[in-house]
Amino acid sequence: MPDRDDWAAVDAYLGGLLVAPDPALDAALAASAAAGLPAIEVSPAQGKFLHLLARLHGATTILELGTLGGYSTIWLARALPAGGRLVTLEADPHHAEVALANLAHAGLDADVELRVGPALDSLAILEEEGAGPFDLVFVDADKERIPEYHEWALRLTRPGSVIIVDNVVRQGRITDPDDPDPRVRGVRRFLAALGGDDRVDATALQTVGRKGHDGFVLMRVR
Ligand SMILES: C[S@@+](CC[C@H](N)C(=O)[O-])C[C@H]1O[C@@H](n2cnc3c(N)ncnc32)[C@H](O)[C@@H]1O
Repeated sequence: MPDRDDWAAVDAYLGGLLVAPDPALDAALAASAAAGLPAIEVSPAQGKFLHLLARLHGATTILELGTLGGYSTIWLARALPAGGRLVTLEADPHHAEVALANLAHAGLDADVELRVGPALDSLAILEEEGAGPFDLVFVDADKERIPEYHEWALRLTRPGSVIIVDNVVRQGRITDPDDPDPRVRGVRRFLAALGGDDRVDATALQTVGRKGHDGFVLMRVR
């Protein structure tokens, strides 16, 4: 039976073959670690998956919830064509400061707008400003509020937009209706509603890798 060590080894093997070393991305990870940020960013293979998805979709406007040190932001922003725009939302000012430096180092500060504050506040302001519709939304902030973020993503997108929600499997704990973890409960609440949500076509895929057993939801807005 393969275990977590095997998953991590395969992740490293695939990443080593398919995700070329990249000075800006590597520097972003190093600077984030040096600044004490938690290592909860997407894996290199997931980052490249997001990048490819954005390019396949032809996204010119991207909204990200949960910046951390800007690792996934760099992957996504690099998928934008000239003149494209990415807005990323981060509650923690220290994370935001590190991300801004990482984005500047990657040469992406002109393409990315980072808004500091609770995502629910920033989303309401974005709507007031008439921002959007965004072609692609990546939801990767606090998991307790995923149901609310799903509603906001729908308000700020258009038919055909793509929405990705990360970390929806949580080491398999989402099958336990009695799990007390508010993140698990948030994901379960989201998935239960998603099953009957005729505003989107949605699926979910499980993933394994160096961070264990997780997964993401992929949606297309109807
Ligand atoms: C999983 S990390 C994001 C990782 C990043 N997307 C990546 O892959 O490189 C989640 C981030 O969401 C931020 N966050 C948590 N609660 C938030 C909130 N209410 N509003 C905005 N950001 C929040 C955290 O501070 C953290 O930086």
